[in-house]
Amino acid sequence: MKTWKIGIGALVMMMAVCGTSSAEEPILIKFSHVVAIDTPKGKAAEKFRELAAQYTRNKVKVEIYPNSQLFKDKEELEAVQMGTVQMLAPSLAKFGPLGVKEFEVFDLPYLFDSYEQLHKVTQGSVGQELLDKLSAKGILGIAYWDNGFKQMSANKPLKSPADFQGVKMRIQSSKVLESQMRSLGANPQVMAFSEVYQALQTGVVDGTENPVSNFYTQKMHEVQKHLTVSDHGYLGYAVIVNKAFWESLPKEIRAQLGLAMVEATVFANQIAKKENDKALEAVRQSGKTEITTLTPAERSAWKRVLIKVHQEMASRVGAELIQSIYKVTGFDPNKL
Ligand code: LMR
Repeated sequence: MKTWKIGIGALVMMMAVCGTSSAEEPILIKFSHVVAIDTPKGKAAEKFRELAAQYTRNKVKVEIYPNSQLFKDKEELEAVQMGTVQMLAPSLAKFGPLGVKEFEVFDLPYLFDSYEQLHKVTQGSVGQELLDKLSAKGILGIAYWDNGFKQMSANKPLKSPADFQGVKMRIQSSKVLESQMRSLGANPQVMAFSEVYQALQTGVVDGTENPVSNFYTQKMHEVQKHLTVSDHGYLGYAVIVNKAFWESLPKEIRAQLGLAMVEATVFANQIAKKENDKALEAVRQSGKTEITTLTPAERSAWKRVLIKVHQEMASRVGAELIQSIYKVTGFDPNKL
């Protein structure tokens, strides 16, 4: 057998040419999420991946694991705390099990009428104070990304609150969402996002709520005959990183990643509404799900039933926090 003899000098030269010296190994950020690539969150994660590579000149490599490939909802939060993955963007409805239940304030039905109102909160001091609460959990909250307003679906039309009586509805792990569904007379069932399609298909649950981008990309229109455009609540995300990991990064890299995140956030919030409008059109085109839009009178009837969730959940999410959001958005619960 022939043996190779290479001098140290030649070896160093080869490593330099091939770029294999360990000093040049990129820093790896594993970014796990539970939705499809073709969604507001999936696309924003991809944008961040591109910008992070560009601004750090490939010193950082972001690896994205979409569609619960790596972890489901609850597991991914544990994984980011343990540092198994470095970055996530869970929906704001999923921070309760982590011990930061205040984020469930975003689940209050009809709290926001538009993205503009919502942004006054997420891009202002109230939003920042909420992100700051994550620090005690070993996590840094670095941005809010939009998805959008949720719609209700089932195999029967859901037009009035009475239609929800006894209907089993899948929810995320938020007590506010549980209270919302109970107020309508439905039977809420907490379930990981990755399990919803099959649960709808097999009748484990009868219906669900989500922005249409999630509904369509998970093919829920194949197993739900009716979709009500109710815009009754908001679903968005907090982008989070493992704090110890972030603080271990060189200052310059952190600044470059920060810039990439700012730009990815602008992108996320620009595409979110368009993606949901596109998905609604795709559901319509599929011909599989009948779409009903609430009339103003029907919407008022939903609001009258659902507004009591704000009071019921004040002790969970904080009465002061609710009031500070009312103040920022101009929401008046007495004027419905
Ligand atoms: C859900 O579980 O319904 C959503 O939070 C999924 C997501 O991340 O958009």
